[in-house]
Amino acid sequence: MESLAEKIKELFIKKFKNTPSVYFSPGRINLIGEHIDYNDGFVMPCAINKGMYFAIAENGTDTIHFYSRDYDEKYETPLNKIGADEGWKNYVLGVVDEFQKAGKEIKGFDCVFGANLPSGAGLSSSAALEGGLAFGLNETFNLGYTRKELAFLCQRAEHGFPGVKCGIMDQYANMMGEENHAIYLDCMSFEGVPIPLELGDYSIVLINSRVHHALASSAYNTRRNESETGLQIIRKNSNYKSYRDIKSAASLKKFEIEMGTYVFKRATFIVEEIQRTILASKLLKQKKIKAFGELMFQSHEGQSNLYKVSCAELDFLVKIAKSNPDVVGARMMGGGFGGCTINLVKSSGIAAFIENSLTEYKKEFQISAEPLRVTVSNGTMRLG
Ligand code: GLA
Repeated sequence: MESLAEKIKELFIKKFKNTPSVYFSPGRINLIGEHIDYNDGFVMPCAINKGMYFAIAENGTDTIHFYSRDYDEKYETPLNKIGADEGWKNYVLGVVDEFQKAGKEIKGFDCVFGANLPSGAGLSSSAALEGGLAFGLNETFNLGYTRKELAFLCQRAEHGFPGVKCGIMDQYANMMGEENHAIYLDCMSFEGVPIPLELGDYSIVLINSRVHHALASSAYNTRRNESETGLQIIRKNSNYKSYRDIKSAASLKKFEIEMGTYVFKRATFIVEEIQRTILASKLLKQKKIKAFGELMFQSHEGQSNLYKVSCAELDFLVKIAKSNPDVVGARMMGGGFGGCTINLVKSSGIAAFIENSLTEYKKEFQISAEPLRVTVSNGTMRLG
């Protein structure tokens, strides 16, 4: 069967009568450490073998052309008129805009792209879109960025036209991912340490709830503001400089009245999730998978009850997982308000787990959830 990479390349040749370079840009999963990349925490993402394929070539003009295979939509604009638009265009235009703002000379180019990754599923199709284009343009125009610099450029691109004030996790995993490793990323120093993903009898199974809340990005920005408010109150009233300095949520009690209910709950989650992720990194290194999974369940509780980024559908999927003796850990993953759960399942019990989850979920919500099996891959790469 023809691969998606080949299809994208052929489509490019048909549309633009030119030979492109071809790239793969991965989506990501995150084992644990949610919503703490923008709170001075630690995260444990992995790049995956599903993502976006790009075909890119210089075209000798002052105009750029994009074609999205998945939306069957095209877009073109002169390079001196880059501005915000809508939907997927904001992500690709944002990348070009960031290169231009950095004083880099981007010339006219053509680009075709398509994904084998569901969008809005918490697998960071947005970072895959930004990363593939940024990597391709960096090569095409010899811009000299390192992978890490490209990750930061892509993060700025997402803050810009799309207006999502994301942390660095997704873009970092997209660029710096390593096959069969989770990246334990310190979101203050931005140093990532690869930890071998050795799960023994267990495997990662994703269940896509197929729920995507339209307001997810504005709710995301609200959480970010609440977190910042919490930190300001902490700094004003103590010697703590960051959430990471607070080792136990009990130490937050003294700030509760000034924070108010919502901010206090968010801060409690942040402090607990940072400590959980530090512990989880040690457990993964020691291959204590059951104990690691227990932290995933706790992370879900916190995201659902304190940080409030879950929804009925995700809570239900995690509840079903928790009642299955073959599942040692499960939680919602990514920005939230829909998307996937990530589950650690005994390999011999995967088929039954999937069947049961899908059946019960359909009964409850009349939605067909989508099981996804992924492998852990390298970051964005050139294919040819
Ligand atoms: C989105 C953002 C990330 C991170 C996660 C939640 O995927 O892009 O920066 O904050 O949500 O952990």
